[in-house]
Amino acid sequence: MKHYHIVTYGCQMNVHESEKIAGILSELGYESTERMEDADIVVFNTCCIRENAENHAYGNIGMLKKLKAARKDMLIAVGGCLTQQKGKAEELHKKFSYVDIIFGTHNLVKLKEYILKKQTQKKVVIDIEEKDGEICEDIEPFRTSYPNAWINITYGCNNFCSYCIVPYVRGRERSRRSSDVINEAKALIDAGYKEITLLGQNVNSYANGSDDLSFPQLLKEIAEIKGKFRLRFMTSHPKDFSEELAEVIAENPKICNCVHLPVQSGSDAVLKAMNRKYTAEDYLKKVEILKKHVPDCALSTDIIVGFPGETDADFEKTVELVKKVNFSSAFTFVYSKRTGTAAAEMPDQVDEVTCKRRITELIDLVNLQTRVQSAKYVGKTVEILCEDYDVKKDLYLGRDEYGRMAYFKGNRDLLGEFVNVKITEANGISLYGDIEE
Ligand code: SAH
Ligand code: SF4
Ligand code: F3S
Repeated sequence: MKHYHIVTYGCQMNVHESEKIAGILSELGYESTERMEDADIVVFNTCCIRENAENHAYGNIGMLKKLKAARKDMLIAVGGCLTQQKGKAEELHKKFSYVDIIFGTHNLVKLKEYILKKQTQKKVVIDIEEKDGEICEDIEPFRTSYPNAWINITYGCNNFCSYCIVPYVRGRERSRRSSDVINEAKALIDAGYKEITLLGQNVNSYANGSDDLSFPQLLKEIAEIKGKFRLRFMTSHPKDFSEELAEVIAENPKICNCVHLPVQSGSDAVLKAMNRKYTAEDYLKKVEILKKHVPDCALSTDIIVGFPGETDADFEKTVELVKKVNFSSAFTFVYSKRTGTAAAEMPDQVDEVTCKRRITELIDLVNLQTRVQSAKYVGKTVEILCEDYDVKKDLYLGRDEYGRMAYFKGNRDLLGEFVNVKITEANGISLYGDIEE
């Protein structure tokens, strides 16, 4: 039996794409292995959203040199967003001459072809397609995240936020047909999956400009599928977040009251330079609309500090906004210059010390808010979808509909079950409790 090992970097989209890679490899007769040294093919599914994501991949590919020297028959393939950047495939080949296959984001579907080709030629196989990848409905993902399942609804992005590389490496926005999405959701629920997450860089613009269902209509259709399951989606761009969507969330109990709405900054000047197309006030209005319909809705966000030209006064506005909204969680990033984006050309790149100071202050604030919210859980009973088992802690874990993680003891296999957990302890972001049977 031949084995594969996939290393994934980056977002949920990439995690799901790795499931598709696994699907292709399974079809070729490979089985998964946890141990890289046992693999006949190692695939790196890379990310380039920030410099450290790129460096992480470079480091790991570099570490494989020794293993490849000892195991000449082992195939190494590198795909994903990193390879899709201008000139990167050749750079990768020069740096890591022992890599066998380099492919981009638009031609994942041809991976099988590349593997077969590499088996008949000595030369590296490099294929980076410039044209946007067509939507392929033929790859059967090998899902590894039961009871959760991801479904792509759009690929690519048209927004060109000035700091972001995604539109360059994923191409223009393309939407899948709603019938394909709905059928996939039905099949997954029939197969016993308990949580469906719809994926897109900007789900609110799903099927824009076509006569297919709008995003809120699509959500509603999926929420009406029979069976007990949770429905989530990400990511929502604030500029396209509509009142209709808030209403659909409110009216359908299967849609989690939990929205990821990246704000990026609280300063209008920075938001404008970022090309986000909303002001801090517009953002707060959207939050108000959402809370009007879904008062208990948890809100999470993404924030960048140190965007070119960001002053202390701009940063203070971000702090103010975070205090006002009281996010349930926030992913905070130091701006990373991406070659080819508009922001990379902007003057006044912020120095490292200032970035460090700002990110530390922001993380402290976000952690404090999270701790205060967690503490309120103690004594309450919440419905948790049991999603995993932590071997080290000897505890099961899962999340409530708001996305809050809880650990608990179980004396039978609880994976994929909804259980009521009485929270006894809050520790930072995590909760601990006991099952109420
Ligand atoms: N499509 C999603 C998110 C994509 S990337 C959206 O629009 O929200 C996830 C997050 O990475 C972004 O929300 C942003 O906060 C961060 N990010 C993107 N490019 C970045 C860069 N160059 N430097 C630092 N953070 C970045
Ligand atoms: Fe990047 Fe903006 Fe598109 Fe999100 S919406 S992927 S941040 S360009
Ligand atoms: Fe995702 Fe990274 Fe690509 S965040 S879309 S894998 S650049």
